[in-house]
Amino acid sequence: MLQGKLITLDEFTIQETRKFPQATGELSSLLRDIALAGKVINKHVRKAGLSDILGKQGNTNVQGEEQMKLDVLANDTLIHVLKNSTDCAGIASEENDDHVSYEDTFSANSKYVVLFDPLDGSSNIDVNASIGTIFSIYRRVSELGKQCTEADFLQPGSKLMAAGYIIYGSSTMMVYATKISVNGFTLEPTIGEFCLSHPNIRVPENGKIYSLNQGNTVKFSEGMKAYLNYCMESKKEEGRPYSHRYIGSMVGDLHRTLIKGGIFMYPADKSSPNGKLRLQYECNPMAFIVEAAGGSASNGTQDILDIQPTELHQRVPVFIGSKNMVAKALEFVNATEVVTQ
Ligand code: AHG
Ligand code: MN
Ligand code: MN
Repeated sequence: MLQGKLITLDEFTIQETRKFPQATGELSSLLRDIALAGKVINKHVRKAGLSDILGKQGNTNVQGEEQMKLDVLANDTLIHVLKNSTDCAGIASEENDDHVSYEDTFSANSKYVVLFDPLDGSSNIDVNASIGTIFSIYRRVSELGKQCTEADFLQPGSKLMAAGYIIYGSSTMMVYATKISVNGFTLEPTIGEFCLSHPNIRVPENGKIYSLNQGNTVKFSEGMKAYLNYCMESKKEEGRPYSHRYIGSMVGDLHRTLIKGGIFMYPADKSSPNGKLRLQYECNPMAFIVEAAGGSASNGTQDILDIQPTELHQRVPVFIGSKNMVAKALEFVNATEVVTQ
């Protein structure tokens, strides 16, 4: 049963905008468009087993990864909705080789560009586990009135105006962060609105869950292996061994980390010196959300949000989540001598 006042995403962003007299409402309107794309993708995800959209598309994307049908459908939906938006100058997507700058006059006069991972956790699509859409919004640096340029998309995460994700899990939620706060909105399916359900999300400073693909351990650095031993060590008074949870969908694993605390890692290893996850589509938006909620995010030596991107599809190692857990992991990873405790 629904209780209390229902605050829709729209109402919430309008109220927030009123706190800033100089705000024009363009960001709220852009967010409404992203939420609309999320609802369209959600509609397909919810009946995926009944329509012919499970399985592989038969193409590979720019990163050499096999595309699933839902990757393509989600990508097309976002590109289409944002093209029709009056507040988006262009987009860059994990599934596209290059950025797309929209040519119409409305778009050329728009202040913002959007980057997205249209469907995160592709390997989970066919097994009905959580998947998501991740998005980032930057204010463009190119001249207003002209088409946007690649430089608009190669800004560090510290310049983000907003970022968020939509998780298609046991319910569908949009989690949306500005520098000030992180709020979660659950899709009320009968009215088709995202409604405020998780106001002012804060990541606990400590956690008891570590999350990574532990099958890669043999390829990890000695420091990383030592940290995993620390997580598995029996130290009852310190709450160890920690639990290990790994969905294999960054959105799913990070959503849990945001709510319950913990650490999520995709470190470098011998075969992938930059890890697997993409700076602009996955790590920056997630780092922005987690840091706005009081957590931290690092590539091992540097705050993720401080990295200057040099190309659209670059990858970075990532350690993200509860502040104290990330700090502890970095102690091990950066120790010149292997730490034993
Ligand atoms: P995508 O589906 O957008 O390609 O992203 C998959 C990513 C991420 O969601 C997840 O954390 C990671 O890949 C899982 O990788 P492994 O299967 O190597 O663990
Ligand atoms: Mn992804
Ligand atoms: Mn993806």
